[in-house]
Amino acid sequence: MVEGCVSMKKLKDKNLVITGAASGIGRSLAIGLAKEGMNLFISDINIERLEKVKEEIEALGIKVFTARCDVTKYEDVEKLAEIAQEKLGNIDMLINNAGIGSGAYAETMELEDWKRILDVNLWSIIYSIKVFLPIMLERGQGHFINTGSGAGIVGQPVHLDYCTSKFAVVGLSEALFSEVRDKGIHVSVICPTIIKSNIMERSEVRIPPELMKSVSEAELPEKEGRFKEEFWKEYSKKGLTPEKAAKKYIKGIKKQKLFIYDKSILRVALFIKACFSSIYKRVLRQQGKEHEEIIKTALKNI
Ligand SMILES: NC(=O)c1ccc[n+]([C@@H]2O[C@H](COP(=O)([O-])OP(=O)(O)OC[C@H]3O[C@@H](n4cnc5c(N)ncnc54)[C@H](O)[C@@H]3O)[C@@H](O)[C@H]2O)c1
Repeated sequence: MVEGCVSMKKLKDKNLVITGAASGIGRSLAIGLAKEGMNLFISDINIERLEKVKEEIEALGIKVFTARCDVTKYEDVEKLAEIAQEKLGNIDMLINNAGIGSGAYAETMELEDWKRILDVNLWSIIYSIKVFLPIMLERGQGHFINTGSGAGIVGQPVHLDYCTSKFAVVGLSEALFSEVRDKGIHVSVICPTIIKSNIMERSEVRIPPELMKSVSEAELPEKEGRFKEEFWKEYSKKGLTPEKAAKKYIKGIKKQKLFIYDKSILRVALFIKACFSSIYKRVLRQQGKEHEEIIKTALKNI
């Protein structure tokens, strides 16, 4: 451990702020960390689901506060930090978890798709650095955790906007680590593989170009909705449950790992990427083919 850094192995009575906690990974992390005895400030834009998570946590006898926070709004992030400190006191840990996904071929993506995803997945963390980091630095301690993705380590086809946002989150986390680690702040980036969450609810998916040509403007929303459902069903078949994944992430959080993975395949991919360029290119092309198959199956079912 670096001199001056406080161990996070014992989480009991430490204070956590987490975004996007109403569902999926955020919900499971919040409940898992509550079981470790942390006091929680949970936030999301989906208040109905957030209140249910609050009830689940209260049933464990844990102190928990909630607030609506749209992470794409700087004022909301500022307000979150303000109320969280008012209610909890010091913020020992922050998890920037809120995020959305996508699914579209590059040529069918609209500029607003890029903007929307970068706002939620990347700018939210930039806001958080502006708001929460100075608070932690002043105190000389804290654990700053971002949710990246396996798609921030290995490029994925049909998710260019998502990959762009998550590669940025991984790079930003690494750079932040090197800047603040000796100032008492831990930085971690969680890199989930595929997790069976509700991520597709808020994600924009575009139907493939060949189908786009044969669908009228009036039919498009319905077709895209059904394609999204079938695409995610097929894509997430081999995914982990959020509960199982969160258990792994909490282990990594306790060990203050910089990179937190749920499957070792990402470590293997990094090794191949670094050492065997032509094999890595084959891996990427294979992924492209697998996506084509998933899309074909999804299209058959709509
Ligand atoms: N599910 C996966 O396969 C997967 C894979 C890699 C990374 N991730 C990442 O994990 C994180 C959590 O996603 P999840 O899979 O649990 O999805 P999820 O949709 O189940 O949960 C995400 C939560 O974020 C909230 N949210 C969305 N936009 C928001 C905004 N503007 N402000 C505040 N909250 C907002 C949603 O309401 C939701 O409750 C995301 O950052 C996602 O990119 C997910």
